[in-house]
Amino acid sequence: MCGIVGYVGLRETPGRELYALDYVLEGLRRLEYRGYDSAGVAVVADGAVDCRKKAGKVSSLDAELAANPLPDAVLGIGHTRWATHGGPTDVNAHPHVIDHGRLAVVHNGIIENFAELKNELTGKGYTFESETDTEVAGTLVADYYNKDAGRDLTEAVRLASQRLEGAFTLLAIHADHPDRIVAARYNSPLVIGLGKDENFLGSDVSGFIQHTKQAVEMDNNQIVTITATDYSIIDFDGNPVSGKPFEVTWDAAAAEKGGFNSFMEKEIHDQPSAVHDTLLGRLDETGHLTLDELRIDESLLRSVDKIVVIACGTAAYAGHVARYAIEHWCRIPTEVELAHEFRYRDPIVNEKTLVVALSQSGETMDTLMAIRHAREQGAKVIAICNTNGSSIPRESDANLYTHAGPEIAVASTKAFLAQITAAYLLGLYLAQLRGNMFADEIGEVLSELQAMPEKIQTVIDGADEIKAMGTEMGDTESVLFLGRHVGFPVALEGALKLKEIAYIHAEGFAAGELKHGPIALIEPGQKVFVVVPSPRGRNALHSKVVSNIQEIRARGAETIVIAEEGDEAVAPYANHVISVPASPTLLQPLLATVPLQIFACAMAEAKGYDVDQPRNLAKSVTVE
Ligand code: F6R
Repeated sequence: MCGIVGYVGLRETPGRELYALDYVLEGLRRLEYRGYDSAGVAVVADGAVDCRKKAGKVSSLDAELAANPLPDAVLGIGHTRWATHGGPTDVNAHPHVIDHGRLAVVHNGIIENFAELKNELTGKGYTFESETDTEVAGTLVADYYNKDAGRDLTEAVRLASQRLEGAFTLLAIHADHPDRIVAARYNSPLVIGLGKDENFLGSDVSGFIQHTKQAVEMDNNQIVTITATDYSIIDFDGNPVSGKPFEVTWDAAAAEKGGFNSFMEKEIHDQPSAVHDTLLGRLDETGHLTLDELRIDESLLRSVDKIVVIACGTAAYAGHVARYAIEHWCRIPTEVELAHEFRYRDPIVNEKTLVVALSQSGETMDTLMAIRHAREQGAKVIAICNTNGSSIPRESDANLYTHAGPEIAVASTKAFLAQITAAYLLGLYLAQLRGNMFADEIGEVLSELQAMPEKIQTVIDGADEIKAMGTEMGDTESVLFLGRHVGFPVALEGALKLKEIAYIHAEGFAAGELKHGPIALIEPGQKVFVVVPSPRGRNALHSKVVSNIQEIRARGAETIVIAEEGDEAVAPYANHVISVPASPTLLQPLLATVPLQIFACAMAEAKGYDVDQPRNLAKSVTVE
């Protein structure tokens, strides 16, 4: 939630045509997926802080800047907001300018003790313009700056950080220090980007990926001071610490729309390569599955007697798919829990529990807190994550990275398929390690997995009908989704996509549950998607789902059936059949999800909505 950018450069660098503001605005546009309720920028120029901010998206800020330009500067900070304290108004937008116009701050996170601090500062005579916790944090920095910190900005931020509770990334600039940005990080994301005679700060690497791939990870409880030529990090006690340098593997082009109407559409089309890349390099020369990055004691993995998968939203649905696969292949009891529920129900986890945390962003606070709780109870945590250098992999015992590339659209698509793929790899790896499957059985699944990118491409290439259906059904008010076995989480994901981007009522059900209540929702014309398992393999499952389709058709539902090509049994009961290539039942989510994503995207576009930035949402949920 909230995107933060900072930039400092040397004006005299030959060939540099852009000024701080250009870099900051460009970074904000790339980070806008993190929040888009309001946006603002501040620069230090001619011995003063100058700021512009506006409710609405970065485009509203562009208009404001065109009407009221800022002076050229070599240093600037910017913010795109997902409102927490205080509504999305101009006044509540960041940056907040404090200390008689000499200090500006931007902030991501929530300061939980802000009311107490506000009272304390009000008692000292400070007044506040906005309703935000950020202005309180900034005022605290100003108070320390002018008193205990002796006008040292780094020290002022450090002293203030020691008093703040909750989660925060806080960037501060001051008119007295036209060469530096000071930033504090606690439970909220921040990365440093290193350029030549210019340095950057960003909520994630998209904030500067256009200009440098050299980045530095910071830990919690740390403060960084950047100038154009240097950076230094200290902890909240003032001790110097070193960050962890890394090279960004994403290409700047990967974060562009590449000719598609939206990032979501582009990311749907990226899925064959997201799955392919996630599978890449996982086999040794003997065909043995090796998950090199999974640095965790093998004897420990052998002794695990329970797996708990924790995640939120779409990632949790990937977790449900993982459960079917892991239990089937490894025979280890596996639970899936929403991360925000896990911690508060006093779960039974111990040294023999393996926790698998799924997260695209690696910054979801609910998942991070659940990880901390699990580790406190002695469990080992493996993170399946798409973002290098983010908090979740850093705080886990081992990592298995998905290689989906940057996911910009708020609605997750390619990350979901990549998460499922990585979870399959983990399941097969555990089965190999624990001897639950023979090498040739594992090899068979792996070759089926390797065939998936091409099959996903077939689904995408043949999507005209489902796209047209999405467009035509623009005025539909409710859509239901049914599935069984791994088709159930696919149904849940189909419904979530529709809710979040097309803003209509949509629900996913386990098909067998229908007759226990939800069938009462079926009335003539009700649109129902049904995810049908392969007629091969688990035959009983297939015929049960066909019966479910008959039950709803008999009550007037309009059925849209996602079925394996050649599945003749569904045709008599389906108003529309969307065929997907044949695959083993356990792997079918990689194919069956794709038409549902395309349908949701087409419907949202037909309704004229911004599919990449749906209302009220933000990409990475860094507050609890
Ligand atoms: C929905 C969606 C969300 C995320 C959830 C977890 O399309 O994207 O439900 O899946 O907020 O996010 P990550 O995976 O970043 O932890």
